[in-house]
Amino acid sequence: MPKLISGFSKLNKQEKIQWLASNFLKENVNASEILSLYWNSDQQLQQLHDDFIENTISNYYMPFGIAPNFVINGKHYTIPMAIEESSVVAAASLVAKFWSDKGGFKAEVLNTVKVGQVHFMYDGDQESLLDYFKSKKEDLYTVTDAITKNMRKRGGGILDIELRNKTDELANYYQLHVTFETKDSMGANFINSCLEAMAQEFKKEDIQIVMSILSNYVPDCVVRAEVSCEVEKLHPTDGALFAHKMMQAVAIANVEPHRAVTHNKGIMNGIDAVVIATGNDFRAIEAGVHAYAAKSGNYKSLTACKVENGIFTFSIEVPLALGTVGGLTSTHPLSKLSLEMLDNPSAKELMQIIAVAGLAQNYAALRALTTTGIQEGHMKMHLVNILNQLEANQQEKEEVTQKLKGKVVSYSGVAETLKKIRA
Ligand code: MEV
Repeated sequence: MPKLISGFSKLNKQEKIQWLASNFLKENVNASEILSLYWNSDQQLQQLHDDFIENTISNYYMPFGIAPNFVINGKHYTIPMAIEESSVVAAASLVAKFWSDKGGFKAEVLNTVKVGQVHFMYDGDQESLLDYFKSKKEDLYTVTDAITKNMRKRGGGILDIELRNKTDELANYYQLHVTFETKDSMGANFINSCLEAMAQEFKKEDIQIVMSILSNYVPDCVVRAEVSCEVEKLHPTDGALFAHKMMQAVAIANVEPHRAVTHNKGIMNGIDAVVIATGNDFRAIEAGVHAYAAKSGNYKSLTACKVENGIFTFSIEVPLALGTVGGLTSTHPLSKLSLEMLDNPSAKELMQIIAVAGLAQNYAALRALTTTGIQEGHMKMHLVNILNQLEANQQEKEEVTQKLKGKVVSYSGVAETLKKIRA
């Protein structure tokens, strides 16, 4: 039975590690040594990371890579990606290069509306509630004046406040459904502060506020990206067949949720990697994107594919509520650098870049899946990882790679081959 502890947060880092080691780790696991390998020797930088969360005992490293050769709306980009999965950065780079001499990617932000809701219960007469809402609406804006002042200066703020009757779905349930424009900030704190101030103003004896919170479902904060070219340019020998298979792959994802989830997961490989690199909230993005994929009632592909008059077009439409100012974007040194290498984009420009990263990833996955299969590329990286685990040196790596060329890579197979070489 694990020990329970009170006042854990008051312990210092070493004490926390000691407690962890003595209660949850085997004696032969040297937690202090492993954890300290990943501490930063720069005290100030380490403190910055310690303070991001509670009970920090070290830093959790992830590879930070870059995918060059993206052309988006005529502008050149090198896209930063933080991701642990092999092949994702390579796939992005290859696809970027492929499309760079075919007009590149075109992207457009369709809208940027964010949403927050005050959820409340009311058991009285609906007409009286509507009258009360109408009489209060102006005050709901007034009580947020101080919070929205700076945002209004930047052209953002509260767009509208609506009273929504949800009693058909849940007895006595109503909402203040509030829409926002938050310009270059993701706006979570701003929205939540506005909502709490509104709730405070709106509540009365017969109105019970349940909660006030932004929504990560943002179907009106959507970006569209696409690539297109003549069908013949898609493939060295049979562009038409290639296009046909790509369309079939998307069609399958549109009717088969098992496939759609994996299809969209591949898209999120690209999206999340850039979202994380730029200091944005990938859980919010994930939740919003998957809800959007299911907006018709069936979970479907986020990408679309068509051929019209000999022109192949591959596109994506995704909701992305992002920020390029505030939060981690301005405190994490690597997020700052990521934004710097993207030429410090506005939130709208970042929406375009990230949608393109998702589209490129899906193009790469479908291209591989419908032609050579996905394992060919994966096996190469899988082999590298196994060789690293087995601590092979450079010469051993080359020899094993040569010997296993074209073969299915397994841990035992690699270990066996390495053993023979070493013998
Ligand atoms: C793996 O991370 C992503 C893929 O499974 C995506 C897909 O199947 O489309 C390759």
